[in-house]
Amino acid sequence: MTYTSLIYEKSCPGRQGYRFPALDVPAIKLSEVLPQSLIRSSVPNLPEVSEVDVVRHYTNLSQKCFSVDTGSYPLGSCTMKYNPKVNEDAAALKGFSQLHPLQPQQSIQGILRLQYELLERLSALTGMKWGTLQPFAGAHGEYTGMKLFKAYFDKLGDTRRKRILIPTSSHGTNPASAHMSGFEVIEVAANERGLVSLKDLEQYLDDELAGIMLTNPNTLGLFEDDILTIAGSVHRAGGLLYYDGANFNAIMGKTRPGDMGFDVIHLNLHKTFATPHGGGGPGAGPVLVSQRMLPFLPTPDITFSDGVYQLTTDRPDSIGRISGFYGNIGVLIRAYTYILVMGADGLQEASEHAVLFANYVKEGLKKAYLLPYDQICKHEFVISAQEIKETYGVSAMDIAKGLIDEGIHPPTMYFPLIVPEALMIEPTETESKADLDRFIDAMLLLKQKVIDDPDALHAAPVTTPIGRVDEVQAARKPVVRWRPDTVSS
Ligand SMILES: Cc1ncc(COP(=O)(O)O)c(C=O)c1O
Repeated sequence: MTYTSLIYEKSCPGRQGYRFPALDVPAIKLSEVLPQSLIRSSVPNLPEVSEVDVVRHYTNLSQKCFSVDTGSYPLGSCTMKYNPKVNEDAAALKGFSQLHPLQPQQSIQGILRLQYELLERLSALTGMKWGTLQPFAGAHGEYTGMKLFKAYFDKLGDTRRKRILIPTSSHGTNPASAHMSGFEVIEVAANERGLVSLKDLEQYLDDELAGIMLTNPNTLGLFEDDILTIAGSVHRAGGLLYYDGANFNAIMGKTRPGDMGFDVIHLNLHKTFATPHGGGGPGAGPVLVSQRMLPFLPTPDITFSDGVYQLTTDRPDSIGRISGFYGNIGVLIRAYTYILVMGADGLQEASEHAVLFANYVKEGLKKAYLLPYDQICKHEFVISAQEIKETYGVSAMDIAKGLIDEGIHPPTMYFPLIVPEALMIEPTETESKADLDRFIDAMLLLKQKVIDDPDALHAAPVTTPIGRVDEVQAARKPVVRWRPDTVSS
């Protein structure tokens, strides 16, 4: 294990990496402008380092980070595709990056137009009427969607509809969003093919039903064959339909949630529309809606008339503002650029490749790993290390960690919950065949290691600066800030 020293440990008294210009205004005493209680009694404990110390330190650290730019990142449910650099160029244009959110509207026509046109394109891609770009993440989009459901039933004066149906294979944020919006969450079972059980669904189609939140393709990477039947049944029972579109990468240009009858959908621009994400941000989870949900959309809305783009708040039944200013503008610019560069054909092709590549990898792995739902998948699939664990004592976690030593980012683990010892794999369309083969080979090699020397995998990874961390401790008591008394080891 190679230890990386902290910038504080590189500190050397007297070193500095900055130089201020000579003072060209009269010097003042702090005590003349600030109350004594706000003035420091001692200098802050900052590292004393030169410019080159800082540059080398952070460049070295950056090279220890795994990223989509350094290797394959088959993190299921996250769509870690390559993010083209032209998106970065667009987001960095001074006309965008130096805008101030409080500028008068006539001076921000460009960014308003970009947002308007992005909404037009996302509406067309999803088959919805219009939407909002405000949400900062997929989960924020879900929460916004649930608020829209609530506003819809409040307007109807229908207070009985409290139940939201959520399939077992849904993403964990779905029940959280429904619960936080005041709904009761009802879990709908999966059938033997990993899809929504129509039989189970039937019992909830009553006048307490507010709606269903459906992830499609679901988190097993499977398209819900009965989606039209599900949509029709929920609507006939008076419920609304929410489409978790975080897995949109599998269906772009192929099918549209609006055509399936859905009322609200969110997209994860940071996944499908190629903007860098990871480690919790940044993101954008725009929400698109059908005709009947339009009155409730958040404000301000972006409108266009007489050649002028405007932010308008004229929507009396709106759920109101759900983010500060205009949402995560940098992500929106990247997504807009991606859509323009790809064009309609390019987006469709991306989905075709994402699905083809996932099936290619699935077929390559199924001779060595258990594939609980052995059927054609969409953009991702889930294998199980259950048998391996029972026979050799090697868990999904051990295999995931072993993959790090092969120079590949681990897949998503232990999710979805309906598959024991799950490893969820999403190669994405931006890997070459050689990279897909390398991933398959690495997984087959690990399987061989499991058989030959199962104990070795318990120690993986062994090639990284930090090996196994105590995950529970890290989640419950994270140490995210260095203090002088922090012991480094
Ligand atoms: C299917 C699904 N829904 C919702 C989300 C939540 O998105 P976010 O992480 O942007 O909040 C994710 C995230 O991975 C997801 O995979």
